[in-house]
Amino acid sequence: MCGIVGFTGAQEAAPLLLEGLKRLEYRGYDSAGIAVMGKDGIQVEKVSGKVEKLCERTKDGALVPGKTGIGHTRWATHGAPTEPNAHPHLSNDGRWAVVHNGIIENYATLREELTAKGYVFLSETDTEVIVHLLEYYDNGDLKTTVMKAVARLEGSYALGVLCADQPDRLFAVREASPLILGVGVGENYFASDVTALVSYTKNAVYLDDGDFAELSPRGITVYDCSGQRIEKPVSRITWNVEAAEKGGYEHFMLKEIMEQPAAVRAAIAPRVKDGEIRLEEFDPSEEELRGISKLVITACGSAYYAGCAAKYALESLCRIPTEAVLASELRYSDPLIDEHTLLIVISQSGETADTIAALKECRSRGAKVLAIVNVVGSTIAKLADWTLYTWAGPEIAVATTKGYTTQLTVLFLLAVFMGRRLGRVDEEQYPGLLYDILRLPRLIQNAIDLNHGIPALAKKYHSAASLFFIGRNTDWASALEGALKMKEISYIHAESYAAGELKHGTIALIEEGTPVIAVCCNEALEDKTISNIVEVKARGARVLAVAFRGDRKIVSQANDIIYIPRIHTLFTPVLAVLPMQLLAYYVAKENGCDIDKPKNLAKSVTVE
Ligand code: F6R
Repeated sequence: MCGIVGFTGAQEAAPLLLEGLKRLEYRGYDSAGIAVMGKDGIQVEKVSGKVEKLCERTKDGALVPGKTGIGHTRWATHGAPTEPNAHPHLSNDGRWAVVHNGIIENYATLREELTAKGYVFLSETDTEVIVHLLEYYDNGDLKTTVMKAVARLEGSYALGVLCADQPDRLFAVREASPLILGVGVGENYFASDVTALVSYTKNAVYLDDGDFAELSPRGITVYDCSGQRIEKPVSRITWNVEAAEKGGYEHFMLKEIMEQPAAVRAAIAPRVKDGEIRLEEFDPSEEELRGISKLVITACGSAYYAGCAAKYALESLCRIPTEAVLASELRYSDPLIDEHTLLIVISQSGETADTIAALKECRSRGAKVLAIVNVVGSTIAKLADWTLYTWAGPEIAVATTKGYTTQLTVLFLLAVFMGRRLGRVDEEQYPGLLYDILRLPRLIQNAIDLNHGIPALAKKYHSAASLFFIGRNTDWASALEGALKMKEISYIHAESYAAGELKHGTIALIEEGTPVIAVCCNEALEDKTISNIVEVKARGARVLAVAFRGDRKIVSQANDIIYIPRIHTLFTPVLAVLPMQLLAYYVAKENGCDIDKPKNLAKSVTVE
């Protein structure tokens, strides 16, 4: 995730900016840069790669003298992680420099407009439009220039702005992306994350969406979006650096679980415009789309389970036969794949060796490849014919959470989009499906809020030797991911079974007190799953159900229930997984496990 820092004061800015950027490294990034107001104007230094490289290039900041500046670590979104795409961006006249976190949704239109006016773009980023807008609207008054430029932006943005005309002044703007001001003595700061501030000051001003601030060494003035001056309280930062890196959470995994509403929102926002799903990055011709006779989804681990869950939506809404196949199996299976197959490859890292090999194997048989990937510019993204990024931001915990739910979100958008283009989702169905997708961020937040009781449930279940996760159809797919989360971080044996299959083997393992997690969110099949619950209970199982809030049937059947909000059956896996992520997390915590770095596991599996 991108990071921003800004400093103005009596000290040299560059060493402080570099130090601030180092503090933001934990967020993950792929390029970095600083812009400092020097004697002869703004000096920009950028690198593709680590902050360390920027330190080497600038001799720890000594080669970039000046007392006011901005810095950035970039997690690539629009455009590869190259030096030209790194921030800060400079206006054509060299008088404005900008760093940006977030996504400018209308950048394509703005870029066209500014290019027509003669502005030259040096990067592929959405951010660069901002710096040209500042030059275009420049009327000699910094504040109104910033306001005019910002008024043209749609999307989410935290901005740090430097202008050569007022060498000791900075602007900070916030809209749907965090930005915090640090209040010092004779110096002031801003940062996207409190981590970058804590070693310099413990006094912070938290901006709200729509606020912008003017900083100089002498003080900070905050304005609302209409330009009216507003008073903001100064809060005391109580975190130490380590706690701040995790945003106050004990583990990255918990932080990432809590980030899911925002991550899913980021996956949806750029793809829904004027009440329509627009997948600009996936643009097969009408002929290509209608020529698809089969969808094959391939991936590993949780990404494969996302495929298992989305198979139902793709098949049901597109009416195209769909199968999810483990990449490690597909690559050696002599698969029946030809030019009429659309291969959907899912990967958070974009670097998983088996997934890459399966992609190449299917491509060699003529399949077209659509990748669903989080890491921009990764190998899978480069190999695919089309790539839909999940925009989850960096995932640091080894066990995926927001990576998985954003994959599902993109797959659901894809299913509705393709179904509509193929005429298999009709005009009546479409608004309801879209409405439910748009509600996902809010419902995810509800599902998290509904589950305050999970730490207590974890105390009941953490000493189990074995746990079983059951469900049918979409619920079975959710159960697969629930069981994986449990085993990988808590080291408890957890097995997922299609509920109807219990009688064919697994039920032999159920004994007094065996925990069974039953996912019951597919209403059409709930009675069937309840009959399986009855069977395992008769053999002594303790049943924890995951069900829709307000479900009365389940109350008398399960020993414990965790609720999620109601949503279209096809989309339930995004919500059903949340309490299971939390359960796995708290069980692992009870058992004293190394949650963010489980034993024997790696975040990116680049070997077979
Ligand atoms: C489980 C987990 C793994 C990954 C798998 C694929 O929590 O994170 O199972 O899902 O290794 O990784 P990517 O998505 O990077 O291809």
